[in-house]
Amino acid sequence: MPKKKESTASTSAIRALARQHDFLTPVSSRYPLEVTAAQGVWLTNSRGERVLDLYGGHAVAALGYAHPAWTAALAEQAAGCQFQSNAVAMRVRARAARRLVRFSRLPFGSVFLVNSGAEANENALKVALRASGRPHVAAIEGAFHGRTAAAGAVTWGAREKWYGFPRTPFEVSFIPRADLAAIAAQVTRDTAAVIVEPVQGLAGAVDLGAPFLAALRARCDEVGALLIFDEVQCGMGRTGEPFAANLYGVRPDMLTTAKALGNGFPCAALLMSPQVAASLKPESLGTTFGGGPMACAAMLAVLAAIKEQRLLERVRRMGAYIRRTCIVGPVTAHQGAGLLVGLRTTRPASEIQAELLECGILAGTASDPHILRLLPPFILEEEHVDMLSGALRDLA
Ligand SMILES: Cc1ncc(COP(=O)(O)O)c(C=O)c1O
Repeated sequence: MPKKKESTASTSAIRALARQHDFLTPVSSRYPLEVTAAQGVWLTNSRGERVLDLYGGHAVAALGYAHPAWTAALAEQAAGCQFQSNAVAMRVRARAARRLVRFSRLPFGSVFLVNSGAEANENALKVALRASGRPHVAAIEGAFHGRTAAAGAVTWGAREKWYGFPRTPFEVSFIPRADLAAIAAQVTRDTAAVIVEPVQGLAGAVDLGAPFLAALRARCDEVGALLIFDEVQCGMGRTGEPFAANLYGVRPDMLTTAKALGNGFPCAALLMSPQVAASLKPESLGTTFGGGPMACAAMLAVLAAIKEQRLLERVRRMGAYIRRTCIVGPVTAHQGAGLLVGLRTTRPASEIQAELLECGILAGTASDPHILRLLPPFILEEEHVDMLSGALRDLA
């Protein structure tokens, strides 16, 4: 009998917990929105209403939702062979790597396929530290690179807010944004790598600009450090070019990308120059799921759609249209590049975000409290932007 009582008590405790948290560890703040379906740029909420998605699940849904070719590619791969590890050759994997390098229009020699942005950055940093034998990495104020030990170590403010590890695995210093004069002091012959988001995402679509990025490249060359572009958020066409490296004409030694790469199927990539790849041996890096055939099929579908639907051109056109028409109501200025847009607001952006959601429009915020961040699917059209500008105009 006591046993039964105990189990009843624990069952009701679990039910109470479930009511509070639905069993998901309560670590994310949530929008007042439950999505039950999605199509194109539209989400359907649990009340059956349509919501215009200008946030794309943190910059992921580049092709929008239920894209027919992407959906078919995943179904076909699932029916063909859903998984083999990197120990087994698969054409779909080789094709995805080759097409990604070609898409980049940058002189990369190889790709290491992984699962998430943080994992791509973790590996890029490891490669740089190992190849150079140096103890230090420089990052940029405001940067976000992920939540793992190395990626978190180079994330601005992580140690104060959530880092959790007792110490960082290497020495880290941060360069003030756009401060060209500060670069030389922070990037020295002890520096293995500089890691930078060319357009900072979470910070609020902060475009670091060609002069700053070129100065980082020059200083890395001077002291023999590697330059890593984190294009997890700003890459894969989001700036209107394949990568921000193309937009600014600055070549990194390594480039990481994720998010839009799989359009929602988890995948990420670390692209590297032939010189960097030459420092690696078998077993230097590894992963079970990275480069799985489903992920590769998703990547190939994304790359094909970007080309066939001329989405880079669309990103440039829609990015310009947003900047031309949405500086209205509480929005006073814009920043960022392409469809990584930061709209500066007179009131806290979280208030504007909540009011837009009431009007059926989902937008994001940023660590800058006065930036409303837009990361819409690349298939966006003028009429969707007109809905946003109309709604903003009605807000005080
Ligand atoms: C620029 C940048 N780097 C890295 C990451 C981490 O990516 P993931 O969440 O896939 O680990 C993010 C995620 O938001 C990001 O925006």
